[in-house]
Amino acid sequence: MHPLEINNIFKSFKAVENRNEYITILSGISLTVETGKSVSIIGKSGTGKSTLLQIAGGLDKPTSGHVFCDGVDITTLNDSKASQFRNRKIGFIFQAHLLLDDFNALENVMIPALISGKSKKQVLDRAKMLLSDLALEDRMFHSTGTLSGGEKQRIAICRALINEPDIILADEPTGSLDEENALEVEELLLSQVKKENRSLLLVTHNIEFAEKCDYMYLLKNHNLELLREKN
Ligand SMILES: Nc1ncnc2c1ncn2[C@@H]1O[C@H](COP(=O)(O)OP(=O)(O)OP(=O)(O)O)[C@@H](O)[C@H]1O
Ligand SMILES: [Mg+2]
Repeated sequence: MHPLEINNIFKSFKAVENRNEYITILSGISLTVETGKSVSIIGKSGTGKSTLLQIAGGLDKPTSGHVFCDGVDITTLNDSKASQFRNRKIGFIFQAHLLLDDFNALENVMIPALISGKSKKQVLDRAKMLLSDLALEDRMFHSTGTLSGGEKQRIAICRALINEPDIILADEPTGSLDEENALEVEELLLSQVKKENRSLLLVTHNIEFAEKCDYMYLLKNHNLELLREKN
């Protein structure tokens, strides 16, 4: 059993509302992410990287195929079961950060852990530690609506890691960061994989980051091609 097994995924979207025309985005994708391993996917804009990640995290359903997380087929779970499962097992870093702008940075990071029923003290300590790791200690009490794109991105990363997820799904986590902050994020995510034995599936246009992963794939022509594998 693996933390994440993507099995023969197809995904088509309706090309135009109210017409029976479909465009195929993903065509028979299979991929396994093992414990303590990182996998990156690169590929041109619009090839379906975010679509694949959303399906891998149970946020979207494939047209056909299955996704197993720790042996559970998440493609068959209803929305409420899928979101409970995600809260426990998966840390999702969205391309659009999707923070709650009425709350401050610290609250945004803490919310998923409070929902999962952890003690407030324990959650507060971990949230502060993660925010400090990404140089955000001065922004903890700022409402996220007032923060910069890169600050929001780093908060979204802390939020994804608060519940110590087995699987981290990261969609362009360094997309709006300067080089120094991008390196901090790379280090944090890769150390979660190596030191904490988590699994990372990363989608990125940042080739240097992609190359640091154990496996690097290219999404092209609706399917994955293995580009390199670290020894
Ligand atoms: N809900 C939807 N309905 C119709 N088409 C969609 C939908 N979601 C995505 N698509 C289409 O699927 C294709 C792949 O989108 P996706 O967001 O997965 O690309 P991407 O590889 O992540 O691109 P980028 O690198 O720009 O983030 C795009 O052409 C997009 O327009
Ligand atoms: Mg995308």
